[in-house]
Amino acid sequence: MDDLVSLCKRRGFIFQSGEIYGGMQGMYDYGPLGIELKNNLKQAWWRAMVYENDNIEGLDAAILTNPTILKYSGHEDTFTDPMVDCKTCNQRFRLDQVPEHCKKKDLTEPRQFNLMFKTNVGPIEDGSSFGYLRPETAQSIFTNFKNVVDSSSKSLPFGIAQIGKAFRNEITPRNFIFRVREFEQMELEFFVEPGSDEDWHKKWVQKRLDWWEKQGIPMESIELYDVPSDELAHYSKGTIDVMYKFPHGLEELEGIANRTDFDLGSHTKNQDELNISADVVENKSSNTRLAIQNIETKEWIVPYVIEPSAGVDRGVLAIMNEAYSVEPLGDGKERTVLKLMPHLSPIKAAVIPLKKNNEELVKLASDLKSKLQKLNLGRIILENTGNIGKGYRRHDEIGTPLCITIDFDSLEDNTATVRDRDTMNQERIAIDKLPEYLIKNING
Ligand code: GAP
Repeated sequence: MDDLVSLCKRRGFIFQSGEIYGGMQGMYDYGPLGIELKNNLKQAWWRAMVYENDNIEGLDAAILTNPTILKYSGHEDTFTDPMVDCKTCNQRFRLDQVPEHCKKKDLTEPRQFNLMFKTNVGPIEDGSSFGYLRPETAQSIFTNFKNVVDSSSKSLPFGIAQIGKAFRNEITPRNFIFRVREFEQMELEFFVEPGSDEDWHKKWVQKRLDWWEKQGIPMESIELYDVPSDELAHYSKGTIDVMYKFPHGLEELEGIANRTDFDLGSHTKNQDELNISADVVENKSSNTRLAIQNIETKEWIVPYVIEPSAGVDRGVLAIMNEAYSVEPLGDGKERTVLKLMPHLSPIKAAVIPLKKNNEELVKLASDLKSKLQKLNLGRIILENTGNIGKGYRRHDEIGTPLCITIDFDSLEDNTATVRDRDTMNQERIAIDKLPEYLIKNING
């Protein structure tokens, strides 16, 4: 973990937020390369969910959330951790995370602590008008259920996908970007006929494992945890946690829950008429029926929901951890290389003129950069430092799959040297063929 944290800072992936004022616990900022990697990961998820499934639509809802939503979702009452204070060191811990040295000391009785951030809405600060920063993106999917169904004419099974920020006032943020207070989620709510939910749950577990594998997470680094009933969240009938071997230990990367009809059933009006199976609180505030009509029987059904919910930040950490390697080069030398899947690499290719100040070389390299950039594969850069060896090392370390060197022969025969990050093999390729070569090697 220390090596990763150091690489992240040194090369501009991730910084402690507000570092110049001492930082703020549980918050991180993504730097120039971090934002590229993170965006690439989110795009890969969006493509796999929304573009590759005609029965899944996207959503981008507000972060500030009406408290009534989080009252009926159960978050106001149940989204809490039991906390104890150590009277000796005056620190507060989650009951299950009291460090050994405090366990035998004088601890307070556990108290429930709500993890949601509250904020004032509007000009009056007397607490009469407030909102929450959403603790999960899921709730706005449920509250927009009818809007999406009506505007996109969906029938079961279908899903709504959303990527966005979520906020939790974690008591003990730790392990770099693993447990933070502000993070991003990639959540799908997949609505199915009651009775077909368990089959769909299994299907989604498999689909999600296949997807993580395509992002460079081998299945040997994953374990599935079938969450026992006494540990399930209040909305879940069954949850499979995708556990990854993070540098600090085996922990949750994604949760795939069968949320039954709990959420739509909690937020709908006319609950009495809807044959809801989950144990929901009476709702007198909702003005909308969150159900779907069976075309043949005309019966209104409250769909069950399968929810694959993944953390973007935990995904970034897992992917970087898998990709990070240090390889011997002989003569006691070594190189650090980030073997990212090319579609996730922050920079897809670096075009390097052999000599920094040679006008002709720089012009050819710069034209090539512009041409390759137009392919829309992601970021291509012109690396005009004049030191090829250093350029290769730097790009190995940040995971650039290809380095393209323009030398004096290039001016004569219109070819360039392409170096592969993983094998370090170099081949001479016609500059005209490079767009095709890049598309094949970056998109796979
Ligand atoms: N809507 C369901 C839900 O939010 P969750 O298991 O609480 O379920 C889903 O969160 C995912 O969000 C987790 O698997 C994890 O990847 C990520 N996540 C949750 N809390 C986090 C935190 N404090 N820091 C970073 N990621 C977090």
